Amino acid sequence: MARILVVNGPNLNLLGEREEEIYGKVTLAEINRALTRQGEAAGVDVEFYQSNHEGDLIDQIHAARGRFDAIIINPGALTHYSYALYDALRAVNIPVIEVHLSNIYAREDWRKKSVTAPAAVGQIAGFGPLGYSLALTAACQIISQKEGSLR
Ligand code: DQA
Repeated sequence: MARILVVNGPNLNLLGEREEEIYGKVTLAEINRALTRQGEAAGVDVEFYQSNHEGDLIDQIHAARGRFDAIIINPGALTHYSYALYDALRAVNIPVIEVHLSNIYAREDWRKKSVTAPAAVGQIAGFGPLGYSLALTAACQIISQKEGSLR
């Protein structure tokens, strides 16, 4: 069975209570439960990792080598300045989809630049929790195109 790793970076553990007017009321646990169900229906295994620490995120991405077929990542604020995360995503040779709950292009100027997105196949931003689900759909499509292994 194909495996997809969903990675969330700094402060995303506080979803549901953090700046609700921007990020909404849905918690990360609720998003992850919905992704698990979606994965079951699509015949893929979905696993989750969240950390507030750049190095831990990089270690997890390294550990995904040979174990995961796609990575969905919301790098949080690291999106805007972490060349180390960019390098890690490039290094592992696994298709990456970048997700943002908010439309980063409609906010502060410093959020408009993603240094990590060039390591991704594509980016989904501005659709709230739906973005993760769209990313999972895209990941399944990428995997099945590569391997013809999904139903
Ligand atoms: C975010 C956008 C980032 O700019 C911010 O630092 C986050 C969340 C989003 O999902 O909209 O932590 O990645």
